[in-house]
Amino acid sequence: MDISFLPELDPESSLYSERCATFEAYANQKEKILEWISERFDEEITSQLVNTETEDRKVALSVLGIGSGDGRIELKMLKKLMQRFRLIECTVLEPSAERITSYKKLVEEQKDALTSVTFDWRQELIQDFCKANAGGSKKFHFVNAIHSCYFIPKHDLDFFLKVICGWTEGKVLIMQSAGTSIFLGLQNKFPKTMTLHPNQKFIHGNQILDSLKTLGMHLQTSVLPSECDITSCFENDSTDGKRLLDFFLNVVGCEDNGPPNLLKMIREFLKSEGVSYTRNGRLYAPVPTQVVIASTSKMIPNINK
Ligand SMILES: C[S@@+](CC[C@H](N)C(=O)[O-])C[C@H]1O[C@@H](n2cnc3c(N)ncnc32)[C@H](O)[C@@H]1O
Repeated sequence: MDISFLPELDPESSLYSERCATFEAYANQKEKILEWISERFDEEITSQLVNTETEDRKVALSVLGIGSGDGRIELKMLKKLMQRFRLIECTVLEPSAERITSYKKLVEEQKDALTSVTFDWRQELIQDFCKANAGGSKKFHFVNAIHSCYFIPKHDLDFFLKVICGWTEGKVLIMQSAGTSIFLGLQNKFPKTMTLHPNQKFIHGNQILDSLKTLGMHLQTSVLPSECDITSCFENDSTDGKRLLDFFLNVVGCEDNGPPNLLKMIREFLKSEGVSYTRNGRLYAPVPTQVVIASTSKMIPNINK
């Protein structure tokens, strides 16, 4: 039994944006990431990049954002970097036109606090950017990919990490669902359901770590616990519940058009012991984020190159 006839949740579509917004409303994942940036970013990233600019030589710190979405998280990181670097050039790869528009709006709203950052927004997938620039000599000092590598086919992921690490003279920060996330739990329990698109399995943090290990990168990793309130998935005709299920399964319309038997099994699984837990009458599932920080073997970048 599968649901391969249901349309895939395309990251470029507004249907994706709606479902992602619902997930964000019920999960504290983004808050935990913002907290990490407030508390850890300076020590783990900003202070590790060597500022070699001099009074008479201004050198821009070069940042690459992969799947930066509406920019809320990236802008927080850029503001941290601005405290040490006088000039920053940020290349943003984001396939959704809608999210690029939101990002630009946010930058406009905060322009007085972002005077030393220039942006190059590209409506592109990371795979396309890497293929087009694989042989190039472009260097980045800081690359981030926050929950944006989830459906990159494994062989493409290896390729793009290799290209990115070749370009980076500094730090690569990747955050991705940890293996204990409900997204992976559903994939492991219902492998057929999740083979809607045979190459599109959820990528998790450990796969990113394994891939980076083969490249000889220096690596640090940690896990940020977070949870999603999935109570609405059990409420009759709840729009939010339907959107959450779609988001977990990466399809559109699973509640309205999916096989009832399969949906029943998915709900039983979501409710089972060890998969979710109840607090104050609400049902929660874990959606932890694995943080992976990779440094080039040289460890210390020379941004005057
Ligand atoms: C869950 S959102 C995260 C957005 C942002 N990084 C944040 O944490 O707020 C995932 C983003 O990755 C983008 N994305 C999905 N697949 C991508 C790919 N192959 N290359 C680049 N971006 C991608 C989506 O369009 C979406 O904006």
